[in-house]
Amino acid sequence: MRAAVIPAAGLGTRFLPATKAVPKELLPVVDQPALQYVVEEAAAAGLHEVVLVTSVDKGSVAAHFEPNLKLEAALGKPGNEHLLETVRALSDLAHISTVDQDSPRGLGHAVLCAQSAVGDEPFAVLLGDDLIDAEDLLLQHMLQVRQERGGSVIALMRVPREDVSKYGCASVSATDQADVVIVNGLVEKPSVDQAPSDLVVVGRYVLDPAVFEVLKSTAPGRGGEIQLTDALQTLAARGFDGHGGGVSGVIFEGRRYDTGDRLEYLKAVVQLAIKHDELGPAFSQWLHDFVQAQAPNS
Ligand code: UTP
Repeated sequence: MRAAVIPAAGLGTRFLPATKAVPKELLPVVDQPALQYVVEEAAAAGLHEVVLVTSVDKGSVAAHFEPNLKLEAALGKPGNEHLLETVRALSDLAHISTVDQDSPRGLGHAVLCAQSAVGDEPFAVLLGDDLIDAEDLLLQHMLQVRQERGGSVIALMRVPREDVSKYGCASVSATDQADVVIVNGLVEKPSVDQAPSDLVVVGRYVLDPAVFEVLKSTAPGRGGEIQLTDALQTLAARGFDGHGGGVSGVIFEGRRYDTGDRLEYLKAVVQLAIKHDELGPAFSQWLHDFVQAQAPNS
């Protein structure tokens, strides 16, 4: 498998007004845009063909990974070697192509837009605003599960029951691997009392190319959007038929940062800043002192 599709054509309404002119995928998380972490994750998992799904008014998304000769010339003075290297490395991260989504008609539609770029091969989908900690090798594990079981693979996390309505929710049955389940059904944003479990879908998928044909006949669902969850429900219902049907789930217990949500974004910045090689020690010390100073009895 070589291709990673990264949908980044959404409106980012939850983060307005920050996302009016700046795509949410380019909001900085410490010192690099969220999307750069996602492209780095794909490359680290051996997926070097990255397909960005963007829209005409989000040209800056692809520009982040293209060579910028003017900037490189300006950095060509002694003392800037490290910055120059950092900027140049961006265009070597992966082979990046873009496809256009004419209007944000849902995640399923965004994936369908990548069909000609992907071809008839299995591929990964990584949401451009959803970060998985680089130390937690979720995507690698999902690729391995696809190799062993075929079909498609989704990432699942346990959430408090009252939060299930924000996500796609899975009904599952166990396998002989503690963190791998068979997905029997999926429902997008169920009410708490109708949710089949506390396992929700998060932004990593390994998909069989059979998903494209299913997406073509998937009617707009919740919110009038073509939902990837609905197409996966169809594939799950087919079972492992040797023709692309069947869905497994990997239960992820590592660190995930949803940078498309304002509160989660703030948490992501703090957690990743603490881990940052250069900034971490000074930031941690400051944060410690700051929190102490806020405490009521300090
Ligand atoms: P989200 O649902 O989080 O993105 O989709 P959104 O629609 O931009 O968010 P809000 O609710 O308005 O704030 C997850 C990912 O899928 C992309 C988004 O850009 C995001 O990275 N996406 C979503 C598309 O590329 N196209 C779409 O039609 C929808």
